[in-house]
Amino acid sequence: MTTALAGLPARVEVYEVGPRDGLQNEAAIVPVEVKAEFVRRLVASGLRTVELTSFVPKKWIPQLGDAEELMALLGADQPHRAPVLVPNEKGLERALANGAKEVAVFAAATESFAKRNLNRTVAESLEMFRPVVEGARAAGLPVRGYVSMCFGDPWEGEVPLEKVADVAGSLKDMGCTEVSLGDTIGVGTPGQVVALLGLLGSRGLPVEEVAVHFHDTYGQALANTLVALQHGVTTVDAAAGGLGGCPYAGSATGNLSTEDLVFQLHGLGIETGVDLPSLVRTSVWMAAQLGRPSSSRTVNALAATTLEI
Ligand code: HMG
Ligand code: MG
Repeated sequence: MTTALAGLPARVEVYEVGPRDGLQNEAAIVPVEVKAEFVRRLVASGLRTVELTSFVPKKWIPQLGDAEELMALLGADQPHRAPVLVPNEKGLERALANGAKEVAVFAAATESFAKRNLNRTVAESLEMFRPVVEGARAAGLPVRGYVSMCFGDPWEGEVPLEKVADVAGSLKDMGCTEVSLGDTIGVGTPGQVVALLGLLGSRGLPVEEVAVHFHDTYGQALANTLVALQHGVTTVDAAAGGLGGCPYAGSATGNLSTEDLVFQLHGLGIETGVDLPSLVRTSVWMAAQLGRPSSSRTVNALAATTLEI
C-alpha cells in the first residue's frame, strides 16, 4: 500500500553503512570473504551506496583490520558509491593505494568523544582531517564529513546545537562535499533534528549536502528521518538488519535498519532502487553468519515470507 505525503522527495539515496558501522563493533572477527559477499549481496539488492570499511589502525578497530584484503577481494565489483573511513594522512594513503573512490572523515561535536574516538581535541581532530580532505579532493574524490554526538553524548549529556553546527560548518569549509549528522547514541528527537537543520542553513551548509545518520537506541530513528525528509534531506544512512554500534561509545546500539527505512519510504511512494525482499534475504543470511537474529523489525516481519520467494 502506497500513500504519498506532501512535501517529501521523490527519491531518497539510501547510504548503507552495514559493512562498516554495522560490523565495526562485532567482537568475533567476521571472515573477509563473508564481508565481501555481504557487500555484493547489498549491491545486488539495489543499494547504490555502500560504505565498505575503515582505514584506521587495527588496534583501534580490530574488526576492520582487513580493509586492504576486502578492497582486493571486491576488485572492480565496488558499489556505485563506495566510501571508506579515513582519519588521517596515513589512512588516506592506504585508501588511495587500495582503489578507494570516496572517503569519509569523522569529527565529533564533543570533546569527550573526540578524545575517546580520535585521541584528539575537537580542534586537533579537525586539523588532522584538513590534509585528508584536501588530498582526497585533489585526487578527485568526494569526501563525506561525519559529525558524531549531534544530539547527546554519554559523558556530556545534551550537546549544544550551535557546537554541532560549528563543526559541520568547519567540515564544509575545509572541502567536504557532504556532511552526515550522526546521532551516535540515538537520543535525538524530531524537534532537535529540525532545529539543527535550521541552524546549518544559516551557517552556509545547504540541505542538499546534508545526510542524516541515526542510531535507533530509543526507537526515534524513523521519526527523526521523516522530519529530516520534510526539511529537505534526501540522503539517509542505515545498516542492513539494524547492525551497528561504536566501540568508543558504549551506549550506541544499532543503526536505523535499512529494511525499516525502505519499508517506510516505499510506503510513502518514495523511490529507493532497493528490492526489499532481496535485502531481507541478505540480512537473514548475515544474521546466520553472525550467529544471532537480526534486530530489524521489518526483517523479522518479512523473513518467513521472503525466504520462500
Ligand atoms: P593515535 O594512537 O593517536 O595515532 O590514534 P597516532 O597518529 O599516534 O599513531 C599511532 C600508531 O598508529 C602509529 O604506528 C601510526 O603509524 C599508526 P606505530 O608508530 O605505533 O607503529 N597509524 C595508522 N596505522 C594504520 N592506519 C592509519 C593509521 N594512523 C596511525 N590510518 C587515530 C589516532 C585517529 C589513528 C585513532 O584514534 C583512530 O583510528 N580512531 C578511529 C576510531 C574509529 O574508527 N571509530 C569508529 C568510527 S566513528 C563512528 O562509528 C561514528 C559514525 O558512525 C557516525 C555516528 O554514528 O555518529 C561515523
Ligand atoms: Mg554510526
